[in-house]
Amino acid sequence: MNVRATFDSAGVAGQINFGIGQPSPDLMPVDLFRSLSEQFIAGADPLDFNYGASQGDRRFLESLAAFLTRAYGHPAAPDSLFVTGGNSQAIELVCERFTKPGDTVFVEEPSYFLAFQIFLDRGLNIVSIPLDEQGMRMDALEDALRHHQPALVYTIPSFNNPSGVTLSGPRRERLVDLSRAHDFVIAADEVYQLLVYEGDVPPALGTMIDRGNIVSMGTFSKILAPGLRLGWIQAGPGHIKRLLESGWVNSGGSINHNSSHLARHAMDSGLQDQHIEFAVSRYRERVDVMQEELERAFRPLARWTRPRGGYFFWLELENGIDTVALRGEAIAAGTGFQPGPVFSGSGRFGHCLRLSFAHYTAAQIREGMHRLSGVLRNHA
Ligand SMILES: Cc1ncc(COP(=O)(O)O)c(C=O)c1O
Repeated sequence: MNVRATFDSAGVAGQINFGIGQPSPDLMPVDLFRSLSEQFIAGADPLDFNYGASQGDRRFLESLAAFLTRAYGHPAAPDSLFVTGGNSQAIELVCERFTKPGDTVFVEEPSYFLAFQIFLDRGLNIVSIPLDEQGMRMDALEDALRHHQPALVYTIPSFNNPSGVTLSGPRRERLVDLSRAHDFVIAADEVYQLLVYEGDVPPALGTMIDRGNIVSMGTFSKILAPGLRLGWIQAGPGHIKRLLESGWVNSGGSINHNSSHLARHAMDSGLQDQHIEFAVSRYRERVDVMQEELERAFRPLARWTRPRGGYFFWLELENGIDTVALRGEAIAAGTGFQPGPVFSGSGRFGHCLRLSFAHYTAAQIREGMHRLSGVLRNHA
């Protein structure tokens, strides 16, 4: 990793920066939170403000199990769930519990740039496994397993960040078999599993925990609000036990007791399901708009595949433009993106870039794409 990753903050006035992979302000459900907070406070028990149970408040785990059973179409048991502070914190906790410094983690190539830093903070060696249009290449994984014994295989199985690629059903089965045969933990970052705009998505790895060595991580960040700092791990009893043995979990109890009350009310009242439906309809529209703008102004300068879910378009520029340098020009023109190399464990993707359609309205997307096509045309 030779390029410093940036977490682009929201809210720079006048800028339309497609590097920001966060929900737009109009998708922050302020009214929904007002009503959830009222419901919660009206029935609150003093214990709701004390430390919570380490695995998560029982009522939350039960509501979450019912929600996941519906959303994943497969029974989820409350005992297989563990409250987290969202997937970033879950990745950190999984590293803490299932690796030691010097161990190896396999990651997809490309993969979520901000996870790399967490792995490096934990002293892990990163080995990249290439993707194709069916997700992580199993031939490459099996080849890497002949040379390394990974402690973890980190995957974003559905709508990979940044490529938008989804791991096929048969490859999920193969990965699960390999996790048992080679004794590694699959750390499945299922952040975009429920944001599907077109077609079907294969079953979440969270539905396969009985069959492999799987720790599935889910988050409310992209289906409700990132500021909740709330998510969950779904795993078998052995893995849950290891999580519960963490010293700091033991000391503090539920990782986010307070937010879990709000999420519980959202799931129980049906407002969570409604919000996902609303967000999916908005995101679907934004995919259409970004696709239209790309078709209009980016051919033949770039190639891409229309995403069927998640947050991102992944572009390959045709004329070998260095996207790290191009990013500076884009920012100067009032727009932006994430350059390809930040998503690589081995310095690849110098001519690729990631665009997020999540953070802006359709009208803003049109304007931002107009600015970006101007920047690209300077290099045509
Ligand atoms: C693949 C992936 N993992 C994790 C996160 C962060 O998740 P959380 O907000 O739950 O920490 C993101 C957010 O962009 C993501 O794309």
